[in-house]
Amino acid sequence: MNLLEYTESKRDEHLNELCEFLRIPSVSTKPQHKPDVERAARWVADRLRAIGLDKVEIVPTKMHPVVYGESLHAPGKPTVLFYGHYDVQPADPLNLWTTPAFEPTVREGNLYARGTADDKGQVHIHLSALDALQKTAGKLPINFKVMIEGEEEIGSVHLWDFVNAHKDRLKADVLVVSDTAMLAAGVPSITYGLRGLNYYQIEITGAAQDLHSGVFGGAVPNPLTILCETFAKLHDKNFRVTLPGFYDDVAKISKRESKALKALPWKANDFKKVVGAPGLSGEKGFSIVERLWVRPTLELNGVWGGYTDEGSKTVIPSKAYAKFSTRLVPNQNPQKITKAVQRYFQKLLPKTVKFSLVVHSEGKPWVAPFTHPFFEVAHKALEKGFGKRAVFIREGGSIPLVTQIDDMFKVPCILLGFGLPDENAHAPDEHILLENYFGGIKAVATFYEGLGKL
Ligand code: BES
Ligand code: MN
Ligand code: MN
Repeated sequence: MNLLEYTESKRDEHLNELCEFLRIPSVSTKPQHKPDVERAARWVADRLRAIGLDKVEIVPTKMHPVVYGESLHAPGKPTVLFYGHYDVQPADPLNLWTTPAFEPTVREGNLYARGTADDKGQVHIHLSALDALQKTAGKLPINFKVMIEGEEEIGSVHLWDFVNAHKDRLKADVLVVSDTAMLAAGVPSITYGLRGLNYYQIEITGAAQDLHSGVFGGAVPNPLTILCETFAKLHDKNFRVTLPGFYDDVAKISKRESKALKALPWKANDFKKVVGAPGLSGEKGFSIVERLWVRPTLELNGVWGGYTDEGSKTVIPSKAYAKFSTRLVPNQNPQKITKAVQRYFQKLLPKTVKFSLVVHSEGKPWVAPFTHPFFEVAHKALEKGFGKRAVFIREGGSIPLVTQIDDMFKVPCILLGFGLPDENAHAPDEHILLENYFGGIKAVATFYEGLGKL
């Protein structure tokens, strides 16, 4: 049996195995799911062993473990570092799922469950491809280092420690990641740019305790009101971020790239449909694609404080909170932006309140040329798996590790995305198109086989 016949014959097996993985609620941000996160790490380690990788290890970190394994039996052949994550976002709000988030279900050609598109389904594409290569050829065509982490959805903070401590061990000729999306269904895509992410939380404190809003209202600061006023000042009428210096280091894209982006088969109507809002908004003077991929943003992610339960309560809250983040593009510097954020709140907030700003995570943007011969192999492999020519895209999301590996090893980073923009990553009813899952296995197996023939 050849490689593609084998993957075809194993469809049910691969899918069942993925469902097993998806049933583990490995939500990294919630402490009560710590045992599930560890169970998912063990599940991955067991699979790596079954595929025949050596030195498979579950490496503890200060928070969630990293799973590592390698196969270095192809002397003279390229070494791939494959990276993915086994942690997932919370499934909340649970009541909006058609079928439960951790009970994988197939409906109309899609597999539904938390982690299908982001990122367990995509990780499993590679595990299945390795299995197919191993079974059909009796050995792997190239060398592999596989690193699957459990903290991507919370900023990969402790992955740094692991990577820094194992620089030599992780050295490879190419980084391969599948944690992005295709431009659209039927358009296989290679991503060459990601935005970076800085994530913050602010606490604003007024009075020493909550106060009766009749007895005190009118004469004391209301931190919730002040929070709203302050955040309203962070964008101007053209939807530009008002943070001083925010755009100073933003790289302009070349005419050539701008032309290439315009030529992509990207449809505004499909985008509007996915969004489902009465209208769109964004920075004046830029196309939607530019706003998403090459322009930085500042977004409020959550606001709370005061009384939010049923009925009413006349209170002036002592504290108000917000979570907010900035998406960064080349050549913005995350640390510099954090300093500017700190200074700006200092300036904007009245002296009647105190504030404290917590930096949850900082992450650099990434963009890189795609000229290395490995990209040609990837491009051909995607065509084989999907029957269509692949396009080169950037994306607005962030994968902290990619920048770090690029900075550290200066190797090509090949991002093969098999999700779709409307597959509800991070939202209820997350799913993956089965056709993309199976096409992905074929493409990835062909890609690795091709790297062995270079
Ligand atoms: N897989 C996504 C990143 C992504 C999604 C890239 C879509 C490109 C297109 C990843 O799991 C993710 O959600 N990353 C977080 C960043 C992290 C630091 C919390 C993100 O982008 O919000
Ligand atoms: Mn992901
Ligand atoms: Mn994610």
